[in-house]
Amino acid sequence: MRNKFFINEIYYLTKADKVFGLFMYFYSNMSTLLPTTGLDRDEIHQQWEAYTHDDMNWKEGKFFGYVYYPGDDYYKIIKEAYATFSATNALNPAVFPSLKKMENEVVRITASLLHGDEQVSGCMTSGGTESIYMAVRAAKEWSKKNKTTKNPLMLLAETAHPAFCKAADAMELNYKLIKLNADFQLDIEDLKKNLSTDVSFIVASAPSYPQGAIDDIEAIAKIAKQNKCLLHVDACVGGFILPFLKMEEVDLPKFDFEIDGVTSMSADVHKYGYAAKGASVVLYKNANLRKGQFYVKTNWSGGIYGSPSFMGTRGGGPIAAAWTALHHIGEEGYKRMARETFEETVFVKNKIKEELPELKILGNPKATLFAFSSEVIDVYEVADELALLGWTINRQQLPASLHVLLNYIHVGKGELFINDLKTAVKKARQFSLLHLKNNIQLSAVKGLKKLLNEQQFSTLTQKFSGTEDGGKRKAAMYGMMSELSGSGTLNDLVLDYLDKLYQIDDKNA
Ligand SMILES: Cc1ncc(COP(=O)(O)O)c(C=O)c1O
Repeated sequence: MRNKFFINEIYYLTKADKVFGLFMYFYSNMSTLLPTTGLDRDEIHQQWEAYTHDDMNWKEGKFFGYVYYPGDDYYKIIKEAYATFSATNALNPAVFPSLKKMENEVVRITASLLHGDEQVSGCMTSGGTESIYMAVRAAKEWSKKNKTTKNPLMLLAETAHPAFCKAADAMELNYKLIKLNADFQLDIEDLKKNLSTDVSFIVASAPSYPQGAIDDIEAIAKIAKQNKCLLHVDACVGGFILPFLKMEEVDLPKFDFEIDGVTSMSADVHKYGYAAKGASVVLYKNANLRKGQFYVKTNWSGGIYGSPSFMGTRGGGPIAAAWTALHHIGEEGYKRMARETFEETVFVKNKIKEELPELKILGNPKATLFAFSSEVIDVYEVADELALLGWTINRQQLPASLHVLLNYIHVGKGELFINDLKTAVKKARQFSLLHLKNNIQLSAVKGLKKLLNEQQFSTLTQKFSGTEDGGKRKAAMYGMMSELSGSGTLNDLVLDYLDKLYQIDDKNA
């Protein structure tokens, strides 16, 4: 039996129902075992077509996040670069000096875009999470040598990307979450309150993922310097768009190595750099800091092992594709795409402000991503209605909101989104038995929360997870889930969910 409690679209998690469909496809059409004789090209293509049948049709642009696409003309050679270098390996730079050269050039270009001087050094990684992991490791190494504390502490905003906590957990580094101000930026006063001799590493975002807020990095850098701490600016999402928006005279605050006190940064080429997936850059103020992310083992019988980042084997495809994207698109191309994406974002934000009084944009997002919430309607119901109109939109919590992140693929699609959003809002406003049922369930669940323990409460919410409209309606479930936010029970449920998602047989699915 399939577990009723499936948590679709928690951030990047693949939809369980799609995976379930895939399992069913597997079981009804072919064995999961290795084919005795290999499939030919046509058969492989047929399988691809069948497998991708339920994937999001991203070329339509009715989604936010996930895919950053510069258009077919630019992408043709980026894809070619990926394929051409797909068998190569950056593990040993002496074997593929071409990859070393390309990587160094990608790092250099990124550093120069982010006002790094010639001392700024870095590496390419597989993505934002790995870049962040490396920066946390380097900070931990730095504090061993430069701080007296035995318990180095990382301070980061509640909205900082979870990759920081993931890294800290893996390295057993202590961290503390700092509150947000009214604009969803890291709150400077709360940061000051949490300073101590243990604090070694502060994290800021440019911008943060959930609400697109650019932290006050000048103020944070001053505090970091005064307290002899490192400061990482997470520009994973902003690193390849903010510099071009600035060149286009968009009014944005300083956020990079231009600010004295910024000691490391992460910037993803596979986001607004429009490279193929698997490419990010981590940068440090100087080569000495970067050394902290390197790993060396000199007594291994396989030889002396030295590795610059977390990965061992590193595919040449993402490196070559990143190099190609930067060189093929060039400054003029990036500036044009940044400007057009920004204008489309301003159009969408203005329409929401002027024509959808039910919705409220959170904070003061200055770049090309933002979130909106509502005090009069259930935004999770708006998401359900948008899903029925073909949109994929991420549901967020704390507060309940929907996430909008535009890239070049969305240029010219703003009006369609606004029209569909208006329809969705209208439907969410209308009285319907479904909404009533959602509201009754939610109120009942909120009331019962006071009476039941965590386990009983979660069992109850599982029973209510709806399947209306082919599972597209999830408002009630999201509403109830937010009641469990941060609890150990929800943690266990998500672990179980992941476990089921990655099971190869469907015994328990
Ligand atoms: C601000 C920020 N940091 C880090 C990441 C993690 O990047 P990745 O998914 O490439 O690991 C993201 C992803 O969206 C992000 O928005």
